[in-house]
Amino acid sequence: MNKVFSNPRWCTIAVALSAAVLFGTGCMPKERDFPTSPTLREFAGQHGILIGAAARPHLLVEEPQYADILAAQFNSITPETDLKWLHTEPEHLTYTWDNADAVAAFATANNQTIRGHTLVWPNEFYYITTPDYVRNAPDAATMQKYIDDHIEAVVTRYADVVHRWDVINEPMQTLGSGVDPNIITATLGEAWMVRAFQQTRSLDPDADLYINEALTERPGAKHSGLLALVGRMLDAGAPIDGVGLQSHFLFGAPSVQAMVSVMQDWEALGLKVAITELDIVTWLDNEEAQALQYENVVTACLSVAACGEITLWGFTDKHSWLNGFLGSWSTPLLFDADYLPKPAYAAVSMALAGEGN
Ligand code: G3I
Repeated sequence: MNKVFSNPRWCTIAVALSAAVLFGTGCMPKERDFPTSPTLREFAGQHGILIGAAARPHLLVEEPQYADILAAQFNSITPETDLKWLHTEPEHLTYTWDNADAVAAFATANNQTIRGHTLVWPNEFYYITTPDYVRNAPDAATMQKYIDDHIEAVVTRYADVVHRWDVINEPMQTLGSGVDPNIITATLGEAWMVRAFQQTRSLDPDADLYINEALTERPGAKHSGLLALVGRMLDAGAPIDGVGLQSHFLFGAPSVQAMVSVMQDWEALGLKVAITELDIVTWLDNEEAQALQYENVVTACLSVAACGEITLWGFTDKHSWLNGFLGSWSTPLLFDADYLPKPAYAAVSMALAGEGN
């Protein structure tokens, strides 16, 4: 265990004058002196829960540290993009499996389970991951056939290694509280969602089937809207096993009570809950505040029996989607850009070990 310091190269004079002077932490060298053994997966295993990370297959071969930490610390992997429709079936019945296969092989070699993300992501708020041939389908029946064919191909190929499917990602309006009026739902109504769950169940009866949604980690209108949608789908015969709370906390994490309240609502419906895409941005580079918020997320999940998974959207600040979306200052994950464990890592580790504050 070495005592090392992160490289403060990102600190500009402007940040130094504002954040460091005002808050005393922004540009100071950061101490990185946290034990990484026992690992997160060892602690999580004691609770019977999954601790996962989103992964990018090219990094598994390009960066040994990336592969080493992913294998050592996590017992679940979510392919960050490589199971999405645009990546697996960019043209109808034309498949590109190499990247998803690489993640599957890595997970199998390291005794990790895979979260299958995602069969259909209809929402087009920021990214479009549904190919144009689907969005431009000439009629409803053809669009439905494209969906059927896609689900059959992906689920059949990966049923052996995927144990939870995000059957549908983000069916809700991103910033609203209703069902998103994207081209698929506008064309087929909510029936396509029920059918997607039924089809996935018939192809992979042993997997848990999830709806995965953003910005529903606190009580509020969108959480209520999702409860209503899931209720309608269950009534219509959709075999939904659980709800994924993405948990991209760009303005800090909710309180423990808020998260527990939301999870208990799902538990009351007899559903499982997974935290599926956790990352936490704390403005002004306050690593201690970030650590406390990570601890709160773990505490909330461990408090509710229905919560069986905490998956992070990556693990190193070097490779976070937020580097593109917000900028590299966002540093939302457990390891810094030099693969050194941050206070957030220690907080998650201690919370899983039952030694939180
Ligand atoms: O791999 C190609 C590369 O070959 C090409 O040169 C480059 C040019 O743009 O694109 C690369 O693909 C990018 C891919 O990420 C891999 O990094 C795509 O353009 C880019 O759109 C894609 O973004 C991903 C996004 O979902 C859309 O699939 C993000 O990495 C990923 O973090 C993000 O994840 C989503 C979840 O699935 C759902 N919830 C929100 C979350 C964050 O937005």
